[in-house]
Amino acid sequence: MLILGIETSCDETAAALIERGSSNRVLSEKIKSQIPLHARYGGVVPEIASRSHLEYIDLITDQVLKESGRTMKEIDLLSVTNGPGLIGSLLVGLSFAKGLSYQNQIPLVPVDHIFSHIESVFIDHPDIAYPLVALVVSGGHTSLFFQKSKFDRQLISKTRDDAIGEILDKIAKFFGLGYPGGPVLDKIYHSGDPACFTFTLPRMSDGSNDFSFSGYKTAVLRLAKEKHILSESQLFTDLIASFLHSIVDYLLLKTTEAVNQYSAKSVIVAGGVSRNSLLRKKFQDVFNRKNIPTYLPLPEFCTDNASMVAWMGYETFNHYPDRNYFDYYLNAYSRSYSRESGKHR
Ligand code: KG4
Ligand code: ZN
Repeated sequence: MLILGIETSCDETAAALIERGSSNRVLSEKIKSQIPLHARYGGVVPEIASRSHLEYIDLITDQVLKESGRTMKEIDLLSVTNGPGLIGSLLVGLSFAKGLSYQNQIPLVPVDHIFSHIESVFIDHPDIAYPLVALVVSGGHTSLFFQKSKFDRQLISKTRDDAIGEILDKIAKFFGLGYPGGPVLDKIYHSGDPACFTFTLPRMSDGSNDFSFSGYKTAVLRLAKEKHILSESQLFTDLIASFLHSIVDYLLLKTTEAVNQYSAKSVIVAGGVSRNSLLRKKFQDVFNRKNIPTYLPLPEFCTDNASMVAWMGYETFNHYPDRNYFDYYLNAYSRSYSRESGKHR
């Protein structure tokens, strides 16, 4: 089966063609990153993002078909991200996919961006054991799930304030280190002393299981101000190393608690921040010692891509064969799924 995936939820315009069934592989993936457009603002500007998606979506899709030597007529299934994300950006991909579906009479599967990130790990690890705990860490999301199976998921924790990637990007922006901040801070970490500063791990005063990251941003900025730390100094490098060390420990603590509580057999960490070298090493080391296999996406599938969207679309189509996949009233949603109401927020 040939599946074309389309991803435009934030600042990457991506299309991918995958093959599933007798063989399971990515035939072609093209990503047009908008980083140069947003870098001068230190973050994603939604209007610029939508306009750029509009400019490139058909070009990127054509390139994917050309590179894999296929035509639209050969595609069996379309898969598109319809939320959560920037609403204008999502609507570009969704409208484009609806057009392809209608014109070529190909079923169209809408997929959730967060669940696609989790699915990205299955591209090269098809046999991950359930039940599992999945942590999604990205620029827009920080969520922890318990999964009895691929489609039986329970949200354990989400962030109360900023997402972890957002904190990394904001700190980098404040110190004039460029956008996105995650990769820059990742590099700095390796020249710093992670034991130089200590941070208190956040705990919710109402006893809730949620994450909170905004205190980290305040603490880093306060320490830099109080100790007159300049961004070129060794002390700054030590501050960033200590901060990253603590924030990864915080993620590890929350994930370990969930693994113990739910007796999980495996751990998944996915999303843009799962590309972080310290996070990858620490999660592998800690859970390997506990004999809990831990899976992270290949580096190219950590940040937003369309292969994970196509992969998720195929799984959804097979799991729910009776749904209407020619539903052109389908809408986009900006906020993630609510644990309490079961509705999109
Ligand atoms: O998954 P993603 O591409 O977009 C969202 O769904 O939000 O994640 C983007 C985030 C950005 O905040 C970026 O700074 C972060 O991933 N990121 C990293 C690294 N590479 C990208 N964070 C830490 N270390 C990295 N190496
Ligand atoms: Zn993402």
